[in-house]
This record gives sequence, structure tokens and C-alpha cells, in this order.
Amino acid sequence: MLVIALGADHAGWELKEALKAWLIENGHQILDFGTHSPESVDYPDYALQVGEAVASGKAERGLLVCGTGIGMAMTANKVPGIRAALCSDPFMARMSREHNDANVLTLGGRLMDGELGLEILQMWLSTEFAGGRHERRLGKIAQIESRFLQGREE
Ligand code: RB5
Repeated sequence: MLVIALGADHAGWELKEALKAWLIENGHQILDFGTHSPESVDYPDYALQVGEAVASGKAERGLLVCGTGIGMAMTANKVPGIRAALCSDPFMARMSREHNDANVLTLGGRLMDGELGLEILQMWLSTEFAGGRHERRLGKIAQIESRFLQGREE
């Protein structure tokens, strides 16, 4: 069972709540950073919190939901150490784990119902990173990240 950080904006909170219920029922520990209502909020505020929780090790994985999943992925991927993957079907979810070792899943709440969202999440949680040649490629991503981080103030 995993510690999973959750975040959503107003366009994603309903799907986030549905997936949260399943995660709790299935024994995962949840850190829910909100939002908790349909009131309009800004997705970067939630992506940052989830990204920081995963990058710091407070959470093992993250799940972010906005209208399309795009803004959440863009923002979370700005946090060093985060590999956020926007997935719209179970195949993408499987590949994002097997090849990319994604540590954050982003979903589009306006693109799917709860059933598809759950299928994607289940596939994502049950697929392990394959390692091997993919390890080398992730190393290259990390090198690019550290090149741009060098000399940067906190
Ligand atoms: C909010 O209207 C919408 O822009 C947001 O949920 C998300 O889709 C951004 O990528």
C-alpha cells in the first residue's frame, strides 16, 4: 500500500473525490491537498503541493486532476524530481510506469467518467517500472533538470 498525495482544481475535484474513496477502501494512505468544492481555484497551487510532497518523500506517488490534466502536468513537472504523466487511457498509464517511472499521474476530469478514471488509476498503481534501458533515459532527463537547476537560488 502506498502513501498518495492528491490534488485537484474545481474541474477535477469530483473525480478526485471518487478516486480518493477507492484508494482509501483499498488501504492506501492519502494526503489530500484539496480542493474540496466546485468553487473556482488555480490548479498550479495544488500541483505544487502534490509535487513537493512527492519530491520530498512525504508521499510515494501523486494524483492530480484538473479539467484536462494538462495544467497539472505542466506545473508538477516544474518541481525537480517529478515525472508527471497525463494519461487518458490505461495503455498510457501502463507505459508511463513501465517506461517512464512516472511518480505523478494527472487526469482530465472533463474528459472521462469515474469508471475510466479508476481503470487508468488501477493500471498506473499496479504497473512496475521496467528499468533496463529506460533507466538510462530517465538519467538523461535528470541530467537536463540538474543542468537548469545549477546556480539557481532556492
Ligand atoms: C480550469 O477551467 C481549467 O483550465 C483547468 O482545470 C485545466 O484544464 C487546466 O489545464
